[in-house]
Amino acid sequence: MLFKALIRPAMFRTSANDPEIAHHWLMNRMATLSHSQTALKIIEAANAYKSPALERDIFGVHFPNPVGLAGGFDKNGIALPALAALGFGFIEAGTVTRYAQPGNARPRIFRLSVDNALINRMGFPNDGADAIHERLARLKKPAIPIGWSIGKSKVTPQEEAIEDYLYSLRKLYDFSDFFTVNVSSPNTPGLRKLQDKEPLDQLLQAIVQESEALAQRTDSPTAKAVLVKIAPDLTEDQLDDVIEVCLQRNIRGIIATNTTLARTGLRQTSSESGGLSGRPLHTRSLEVIRYLSQHLDNKIPIIGVGVSSGPMTPGEP
Ligand SMILES: Cc1cc2nc3c(=O)[nH]c(=O)nc-3n(C[C@H](O)[C@H](O)[C@H](O)COP(=O)(O)O)c2cc1C
Repeated sequence: MLFKALIRPAMFRTSANDPEIAHHWLMNRMATLSHSQTALKIIEAANAYKSPALERDIFGVHFPNPVGLAGGFDKNGIALPALAALGFGFIEAGTVTRYAQPGNARPRIFRLSVDNALINRMGFPNDGADAIHERLARLKKPAIPIGWSIGKSKVTPQEEAIEDYLYSLRKLYDFSDFFTVNVSSPNTPGLRKLQDKEPLDQLLQAIVQESEALAQRTDSPTAKAVLVKIAPDLTEDQLDDVIEVCLQRNIRGIIATNTTLARTGLRQTSSESGGLSGRPLHTRSLEVIRYLSQHLDNKIPIIGVGVSSGPMTPGEP
């Protein structure tokens, strides 16, 4: 109530020209709170709801509830304890890349308030796998599962993409309960081409093999699960390819979906480039989730994203 009535309007006003200001303001507060055990206890007592009915055990990981925080919110892992205290069942942190990179020029997030939507072209700004590794080594890991999302550095040529992903996997292996292979951000040139059947197959094979090898090296009984996050803009044929590769390569979860390049159904026009999220994505994201669920035969769990804001038209599913 307080957030909707007072805090959110104030944040929107002060960051009207660059919504990222509001995000950094919030993240810095959450990062500070993450270092105070008392603050964490208070946040958790006020927010976290526990019930055995919500618990899930999937790919060897125990989830206190099935509602997680999607990739992109805490790209550098600076506020994981405070975010966990809000009651999420898991957090997908990142996306992290091998090399530190600034991302695209600001502003790079645009509010479409009328449509309850955002366009972003962040381009994976993050501190890079080495710096994030050092940070995590100093932080107490939250009690909920943390999955790191890994992506390709912008400077890395497409033909060296696999090694780029593997570097981040190795660096963050000890700090992650599972990994997400992000091949669906529209803001790194060429990244979405990695969803094509052959490059996807090679990439996922290499990452799953490396996860298994790392588990053996650390005497861990099971390799950390590898999930893949896909775009909403794939055709049914492309989704069939993704399904085939995921089954073949022992992918343990499909996260659907990332932001869309489509601009259908918008009431507010915008010429900004980037990925669209929020309410206009709901229907398409749900279509992809439904298609996956019909064709996966329960063989791979699906984590739905892009559906939380509800449909554009009341009454739609
Ligand atoms: C500003 C912003 C940054 C994002 N960064 C990432 C990211 O780094 N990695 C990722 O996998 N998804 C990223 N996403 C996509 C979200 O995780 C999510 O898939 C998408 O926003 C659709 O969900 P929504 O409509 O509920 O926001 C980002 C989204 C936004 C709005």
